[in-house]
Amino acid sequence: MPIEKVGVVGCGLMGSGIAQVAAQAGFPVIVREVSAQLVDKGLASIEKNLGRLVEKGALAPADRDEIRGRLRGTTGLDDLQSCDLIIEAIVEQLPAKRELWGSLDKVCAKSTIFASNTSSLSITEMASFTQRPDRFLGLHLFNPVPAMKLVEVIRTIATDPKVFEEALAFAAKLGKTAVRTTDRTGFIVNRLLVPYLLDAVRALEEGVASVEDIDNSMKLGCGYPMGPLTLLDFVGLDTTYYIANIMFDEFKEKRFASPPLLKRMVLAGWHGRKTGRGFYDYSDPKTPKPMQLS
Ligand code: CAA
Repeated sequence: MPIEKVGVVGCGLMGSGIAQVAAQAGFPVIVREVSAQLVDKGLASIEKNLGRLVEKGALAPADRDEIRGRLRGTTGLDDLQSCDLIIEAIVEQLPAKRELWGSLDKVCAKSTIFASNTSSLSITEMASFTQRPDRFLGLHLFNPVPAMKLVEVIRTIATDPKVFEEALAFAAKLGKTAVRTTDRTGFIVNRLLVPYLLDAVRALEEGVASVEDIDNSMKLGCGYPMGPLTLLDFVGLDTTYYIANIMFDEFKEKRFASPPLLKRMVLAGWHGRKTGRGFYDYSDPKTPKPMQLS
């Protein structure tokens, strides 16, 4: 059965982006948050993004109106009943996911495909919270969702190959490039990205170079769109620390071990752009200033 109607759970940074690109691709989308205030906040950020596209001339106002018309917000899980695919993008905490998947399993039709946007938790473990491990997989999109072209499509040992193919076809309909991978913590991108980011922090700790020079090296020497310390501030130091800990726990390899400086910054509440301070100070967000961290 082809995927026609999409449900997104969580309308934060990732959930709102996923809801936006699904609606832009022509799918009717219902997006669920825990309060009306969070629904409004998520929909307002989609509205802002679509507005920017209209201003740039990349989207006709009439198309924007159609996209808006395909999007609906809700606080009730029951409203997701008729969705063919549910994509979960809530907080990265297993107890919260367990509760959500258990409830959705009762609410949704047996045919509904369940997908998690987790970047680090086990898809297999989440599938075990439901009676449909064969219809459960991972769909990992990247921040900012409208701009990043990749989707990691993750199968577990229990995922039905037909369901995997349907998810790959869905990713293509979103206009993204799908890569196939299996349920190993970090999948492809974070397996490669996280050690790189942690190494950048180690280089700073060891006095190899300054914050700016480390970032400029990778931007100007390798053509990366952002330097690693800017990217850490963008992703969130807390998020990266959390992912690194889960990866270290899974593989017990030093390359996934969080450097002390990263841990101290997380403990200090310097989580990057979202808290106004990380490797840079964002007091003036347009001109971030490197922090003095030694
Ligand atoms: N929302 C939607 N679209 C956005 C956006 C946002 N927040 N920020 C930028 N964009 C879009 C712009 O609209 C623009 O689109 P067009 O090319 O169609 O006009 C495009 O992205 C480029 O944007 P800008 O010209 O404004 O800015 P830029 O050239 O400096 O690019 C960037 C900004 C796309 C964020 C770029 O710096 C980049 O690619 N950075 C790396 C991001 C990255 O690595 N993300 C992955 C993080 S890891 C992750 O998400 C997974 C995990 O598990 C941790």
